[in-house]
Amino acid sequence: MTMTVGRTTESSGTSSRAGTDVERIVLAPAEAGEVERLLDQLLGVARSRDAGSLAEEVRPAAEGLPLRLRQFLVRARQRESEVFLVSGLPVSTDLPPTPENWAAAERTGAGLREELVLLLCGSLVGDPFCWSTQQNGRLVHDVCPAPQAANSKTSASSLTALSLHTEDVHHPCRADYVSLFCLRNPDAVATSVSRIDDAVLSPETRQLLRQDRFRFHPDDSHTGTAARPSTGPVLFGPAAQPYLRFDAEFMSGLDDAASAAIGETEDSLRAAATGVVLKPGDLAFVDNYRVVHGRRAFAARFDGQDRWLKRINLTRDLRNSHRTRDVRSRVIG
Ligand SMILES: [Fe+2]
Repeated sequence: MTMTVGRTTESSGTSSRAGTDVERIVLAPAEAGEVERLLDQLLGVARSRDAGSLAEEVRPAAEGLPLRLRQFLVRARQRESEVFLVSGLPVSTDLPPTPENWAAAERTGAGLREELVLLLCGSLVGDPFCWSTQQNGRLVHDVCPAPQAANSKTSASSLTALSLHTEDVHHPCRADYVSLFCLRNPDAVATSVSRIDDAVLSPETRQLLRQDRFRFHPDDSHTGTAARPSTGPVLFGPAAQPYLRFDAEFMSGLDDAASAAIGETEDSLRAAATGVVLKPGDLAFVDNYRVVHGRRAFAARFDGQDRWLKRINLTRDLRNSHRTRDVRSRVIG
């Protein structure tokens, strides 16, 4: 995989863009202080609410975030920015140890303040939602290496690379954005991203990828029987700037030509991949329709200081899932 680490540029107190790379805003200390004060106000409410009603509470509260941050996030949503990053967000100085797995985080409620940071910023980009089949239906996920999952094909892996993928590729209501807030990353493990616009594909392959010749399966992070495979194209939408649905590990071609196209697309996306190293206080948004993401393999420490991210799925309109079901809920499944 061709990977350049750290192609973003930073400039304190400003927003920036480096070529076609990651768009980033770096909060000034005074702006981070504004976020801290908002968190202080919300923390009591957060402790007494379930995740669904907390999400309702957080959206209007997000109007209290620094103006420059709000403008950055709203503009990124408006112009469908592909990968964008907020740096300099507050992370607790007394952060508890990295949990040994997501279930441990659920039990202890570790990192609630950081979950609020993610929900506040995320709510300006989309509506948070979750899956009943993933992490026990939690709205905010914990991404941390688990010893028992070191070689799995889930975000709890470490010794195995997470190949480039669309989040929850099997489902028509999958996220518009995946958001990742970094609490710890001591070994500078990069998140890889690859844009469909950077993939070099022949016109014949592009045409084939637009046909309903692919089956998409639930990935291994989904448990139970509620998650089902679906069939459709890999590419769709505007020809010049197509949308993408791809996860070579959890999809199959319905015929030999379609299977070959999966291999060609995977090679091309790998060749175009870039690495983004998230540091504590960095919040990344990845457009799940224009960019695939993954993570390189690494040796986890399992000492309470491992890489730890909080993650939420964001949709641009919750109603898209409501109209396919008989309930209104942020939990799909
Ligand atoms: Fe993912």
